[in-house]
Amino acid sequence: ANDNLIAPSILSADFARLGEEVKHVLSAGADIVHFDVMDNHYVPNLTIGPLVCKALRDHGITAPIDVHLMVKPVDRIIPDFAEAGASYITFHPEASEHVDRSLQLIRSLGCKAGLVFNPATPLSYLDYVMDKVDMILLMSVNPGFGGQAFIPTTLDKLRAARARIDESGLPIRLEIDGGVKVDNIREIKAAGADTFVAGSAIFGAGRAEDANRYDSVIAAM
Ligand code: DX5
Ligand code: ZN
Repeated sequence: ANDNLIAPSILSADFARLGEEVKHVLSAGADIVHFDVMDNHYVPNLTIGPLVCKALRDHGITAPIDVHLMVKPVDRIIPDFAEAGASYITFHPEASEHVDRSLQLIRSLGCKAGLVFNPATPLSYLDYVMDKVDMILLMSVNPGFGGQAFIPTTLDKLRAARARIDESGLPIRLEIDGGVKVDNIREIKAAGADTFVAGSAIFGAGRAEDANRYDSVIAAM
């Protein structure tokens, strides 16, 4: 069984002071940095790219960076993120013309690879690629924005994904993204997740000058 990891989503951080915010959540006990990449095409919002990932590395951030690609197409941006210091690169299978190829590309560049499932996307995309994924990310909101409510049917999907992972015997992480809060994280964990993205729950708790508030939220998770 894997240890549980807390992955603050920097989508809800103060972008004007991103480096400090990331350092604060890591020193407050967060394990990995969740990095949401949106292209105003696959999802209706626009965020940050490889330059910002590289800037965090140059700022001295050594924790794993978990790059969640909400872009289409996916393949041409993958090498840029690998070069910029990404640790995990996950993408939505509907956004790739060749899912198996994209997964292989990520691993060939030395990163861990993952597939992301929107609330209505079936887990059957995993049927023939389980051996090529290091992470399964279930979206518990529709992608594009922080601060949305957790969709409860995701709990059943988590149980199904957990069963697939256990049956495979592979060391695949099961990550959940969207609407994760202090008051629902136990239930989400009980359903099988081991990696917890939280954006508004963590960064909404205070700003960088008030870093001890991150501490209490992360500790409660
Ligand atoms: C949504 C992003 C999430 C988002 C989560 O498309 O993938 O990572 O930042 O934010 P909260 O935790 O506020 O739902
Ligand atoms: Zn995300």
